[in-house]
Amino acid sequence: MPRASGTRWRRPAHRRRWHRDRARLSGGAVPSDHALRSGDFVPDLRRMVDAVHDAGALIIAQLMPSFGAMGVPGADRPTRAASPKAVRMGAPRLPRGLYIPGGRVTPRPVEITKAEILELQVEVVAAALRSRDAGFDGVEVAAHMRYLYSSFLSPRTNWRTDEYGGSVENRARILSDVVRSIRAEVGADYPVGLRMSVNEHLPDGQGPEGFAEVIAQVAKEGLGYIALTDANYESMNDNLPAESGAMLAHGEPQAFRAAIPGVPLLLANTYDPDQAAAVIDAGTADAIQLARQLLADPDFPNKVMAGRLDEVVWCDHDNSCLRRLMTNVPVRCHLNPEMGREAPSAPRSTAGQDFFIWAAGNGTLMAVADRAARVSRRRKPKPVGDATGSEL
Ligand SMILES: Cc1cc2nc3c(=O)[nH]c(=O)nc-3n(C[C@H](O)[C@H](O)[C@H](O)COP(=O)(O)O)c2cc1C
Ligand code: SF4
Repeated sequence: MPRASGTRWRRPAHRRRWHRDRARLSGGAVPSDHALRSGDFVPDLRRMVDAVHDAGALIIAQLMPSFGAMGVPGADRPTRAASPKAVRMGAPRLPRGLYIPGGRVTPRPVEITKAEILELQVEVVAAALRSRDAGFDGVEVAAHMRYLYSSFLSPRTNWRTDEYGGSVENRARILSDVVRSIRAEVGADYPVGLRMSVNEHLPDGQGPEGFAEVIAQVAKEGLGYIALTDANYESMNDNLPAESGAMLAHGEPQAFRAAIPGVPLLLANTYDPDQAAAVIDAGTADAIQLARQLLADPDFPNKVMAGRLDEVVWCDHDNSCLRRLMTNVPVRCHLNPEMGREAPSAPRSTAGQDFFIWAAGNGTLMAVADRAARVSRRRKPKPVGDATGSEL
């Protein structure tokens, strides 16, 4: 992305246009800086997809049309959700290494209208087609955490009295409609998966049986798989556990297997290779999702398959990567200095970033580090990009 040196960075015109249109469409409901939002990004995405294919892996695009109540509202554009329920991130429910003194309550979202739901649906279908054009091996609709689509699935966050609220069929409707619409365009053979939170882990929340009942309706439209995710922003300690097998212990995959036996299930939070193999052998799940372990050691699957366990760099689950994500600092892993800098042309560390990582685990130092990182970013606003100036 070209920039005039010495001038303040501005989004290029097509990106400014897009942000303006998104704000009009559904306010702060859609702050996502999504690379699939326009065809402009397809050639760069194709380069990324090709690189992944060249390395022998498949790649699926996650479609995230709106952060819902977790979005960033503007002065005259509130966030949107199924119902006007804020997200309450209580300090005792934060995962290891994440500190928000006194917790955080998001601004109250407003109820998204039917017209906005349908408009977003059109966008999601268009993004699915762009993903296919870019060569992705499938698409995954995001309905997890407290993002827009997830807010429809539980009676705790969905109090609507229209056709999108109340009964199981109604709470499933927004996802059933979007999956059916994607299917109508991409055909029966293109994988369309779903990522969803499967247990709220809150006293008044919905458990796995309730979520499975709703998603059984969506599955009728042809789901290629369900990527199970535990908990959400209000019960984040259960979303990012340190121990392997937490989800299995809660019984969530078992409940989904019983409710929708025909749909492949991807299990989270199970990085212990023996445990993962046992779960798949037992038929409780069909594949394992790995996030932080892959950041710490991208070669982890190869090492496991080659029996080189003594060479594995084990993630410490202290979540400095996540802290960076949540404070809008480029994500890094302190056990894997190359993470996020894999391209030869990628920018290397700055003093502010290193300090941020060093401060991990101490609330006061982190506040200082946040500030240092912000200053460092202000001085050097260049985002991650490659030599041609394009941004992936
Ligand atoms: C730095 C970072 C970025 C993430 N980005 C996404 C994302 O874009 N989409 C998503 O569904 N989950 C995302 N997650 C959540 C992970 O997919 C996963 O649910 C979570 O890290 C727990 O799994 P783990 O124990 O394998 O790390 C992210 C997690 C981390 C730490
Ligand atoms: S920073 Fe690295 S080691 Fe720490 S939790 Fe994140 S991936 Fe794991």
